[in-house]
Order: sequence, then C-alpha cells, then structure tokens
Amino acid sequence: MASEKTRLGIVGVGTVGTGVIQLLEDDPRFEICRIAVKDATRSREVDLSRFEVTTDALSVATDPRIDILVEVAGGINPALEVVRQAISCGKHIVTANKEMIAKHGPELFALAAERQVTILFEAAVGGGIPLISTLQRGLLANRISRVAGIVNGTTNYILTRMEREHLGFGQALTEAQAAGYAEADPTDDVEGRDVAYKIAILSSLAFQSSVEVEEIYRQGITRITDLDIRLSAEFGYRIKMIGLAQPGDDTRLDVRVHPTLIPLGHPLAGVDGVNNAIFIKGSAVGEIMLFGPGAGRLPTASAVVGDIINLASAIRLPDFASYFQPTIAPHAARILPIDETENGYYIRFQTMDVPGVIGSLGTAFGNHGVSLHSVTQKGVAADGSATIILLTHRVRERQVQAALEEIRQQATTREIGVVLRVLI
Ligand code: HSE
Repeated sequence: MASEKTRLGIVGVGTVGTGVIQLLEDDPRFEICRIAVKDATRSREVDLSRFEVTTDALSVATDPRIDILVEVAGGINPALEVVRQAISCGKHIVTANKEMIAKHGPELFALAAERQVTILFEAAVGGGIPLISTLQRGLLANRISRVAGIVNGTTNYILTRMEREHLGFGQALTEAQAAGYAEADPTDDVEGRDVAYKIAILSSLAFQSSVEVEEIYRQGITRITDLDIRLSAEFGYRIKMIGLAQPGDDTRLDVRVHPTLIPLGHPLAGVDGVNNAIFIKGSAVGEIMLFGPGAGRLPTASAVVGDIINLASAIRLPDFASYFQPTIAPHAARILPIDETENGYYIRFQTMDVPGVIGSLGTAFGNHGVSLHSVTQKGVAADGSATIILLTHRVRERQVQAALEEIRQQATTREIGVVLRVLI
C-alpha cells in the first residue's frame, strides 16, 4: 500500500550509520523500528533517545516488524551472522560492508535468491559515487574490458601530500592520521587490503564471476619515496594506488592491487586528495570515469539511503523480484598470477658508483628479453652509492623478476629499492 511506511532496522551507528539516521529520521516514508549499537553509553552526534536501541544486533535481524535491515556496522563479526539471519527471516538487506560482500557475496546472494529477498550494496565501493548501479544496470549493453579505480581515499591523500609537500611516506601518514583521513592502524589501507575488497566486488560485477579476495595480488605504498613521485613526473606519470580488473588472455581474470604509474594524460592521473575515481572501458560506451567522494558520513549515507529508497519502492511492485534482483555470481574465476601479467616497470636501484654499473644492469635485462625505455642516474649519495632509475617497455613480469634476480647477484648492487608497475 502506497501510504504504508517501510520499516527499517539499523545495525551500526558509527560514521555511516549516523549519516543514515540523519537523512532518514524525519522522512515520513520510513519508520526506524530498532537500532543496534556496539556501545549504548557512547555519546553520539545523532539523538537516539526517540528510538528503540539495543546492543543485541541479532534481535534486529529477527524482529518481525522490520522490512529492510540496514547493515552499516562493517567487518565480518557480527555483521555476517546478522545478515544471514535477517535474510533467513525474509528481510531485504542494504549494506555498506565491502569486506562481507567481497568475501561472502556468493553465499549471501544464493541465500537471498532462495528466500526471494534483495541485497543492495551501493555504499560498499566508492562511497557516494553511484558506481555499483552503473555497473549493474547502466552498462549492461557493454562488454567491459577494464575497470581501474582509485578506491581508497586514505592512500590517495597520502600520495597527494607526498607529491605536493615533498614529504616522506611516514610524515604524510602521520599528517593523514592527524587530519582524520587515516586510521590509527592504517594497515588495511596502506597495504591495499581495502582496495582488494573493493576491486573484488567491481570485478565480480563487471565480469559476472566472483574472485577469491585472498588470491588477489597486493602491493602497498609504504616503500614509495617522494623521489619516486618526482622522477615519475619527469618520465610523464603520477603514482596512484590502483585496483585493476580486466580479462586475462584466457578464461582467467587479471585482478590486482598496487601503486601504479599512470600516464599524465589518463583521467585517473588528475584525481587528488581523498577523492575516488573509477575508470571503466566498455565495448559500446568507450571510456568513462566516475569521480567523487569515496568515503565520509553523508556521501556514504547518500548511497545507503539511495538503496533504501529504491528498495522500498521496488518491494511494493507486484512483480519486483524479476527486475530488481541484482546478484554476485557464484562462479569463481581464477586470477592470473602476477608473474604472468604484462606491464611497463619503474625500478629504483641503489648501486656502487663505479664504471660499468649501468652496462651490467642493461645486460641483465637484455638476458631476459626486457627492453629498456629510459635509464637515469640521480647523483651519488653520501655513502658513495648511486641511485639509478629505469623504465622498461611492456613485458611479462616473470622476465623482469628473472632479470632482478640476476641483478641481485651482481657485486655492484646495494639494493633493489622499489619496483612499480606502469599502466599500459
Ligand atoms: N578507508 C577507506 C578509504 C574508507 O580510505 O577509502 C572507505 O571505504
């Protein structure tokens, strides 16, 4: 009935949950029946006194009044069990939980199909950017050949500050923490785990085949220096933390997470600060990029509440299920191992500053069929070592690794500082 309110249960009142309540509390279309919090004594920016509040999240999942369970607690425990139980009780789900969808999506969507309920998760990737619905509906006419995203605001902020202020990674991280853009424990962000969850989800939508998060190759940004950023710019690139998903040469998918040299002319190169952007190449649409705030209270709540409003209208349709049943495919695609991928490479070495060093490096690369694009030496350090940077042409990673193994054995090599991939 059009006049009937849709009844909601909300699990989690952190940053996103607070935004969701702010957007919905006076909306006459909805009734918030029950809210679960971890700590009922904590003071909050939203007044919960007019709501039924519990610390028992499962009681929201099983509450017979509730039509849609809104899960904005994040993490696996207790979110996964809460969502499982809610689905089993016939409730629809709106969630912002990237980790849960990335790791348990196939199981949850199978359960939802069995129970004839819907799971929406627009907020799980890219915060306020309407990205999931774009992949699920707007781009259905396309064969997707690439999804490449800056989907972690923390690392994009750190890299931007390193570039602009010539900061080391540690300094930029400390500054990001002080500004509230990085967690006290930043590991999931700076080591790429957060991006792995997000690119797993995008990949499963773009290629209708889920992947195992743990199989996704990850390289963090902790070894990048401001020198790498400066030299990359001299070569015509900016370094961005990228989640990449594209078809491999066979049935496997090429899905990975690593800092990447992006050509200055590419739309992703211009994305700064905490912003997110997702570049998609489709067979009919060509190249598009969606850009905007990838985190934050109201941008993320915008995506959650958008899902709630869409779902609330859809469940009133007599035959909603056939149209409105987005899914994460159960079939698990294999991922191309990183040494089988092809890229350009930026490599920084520390070597002895003696005659013939650049020649020996060139010989090692030549021995393994790696063609060099540029080689440059940046002065001599106080300890007498030389910093040598080189850029390769497109080549299979296995060949680069074999050359680096040979270089490691050379007497003049002090250190292989960093190996970064170039987007081609
Ligand atoms: N830590 C994440 C980011 C939050 O920096 O983008 C949003 O998922």
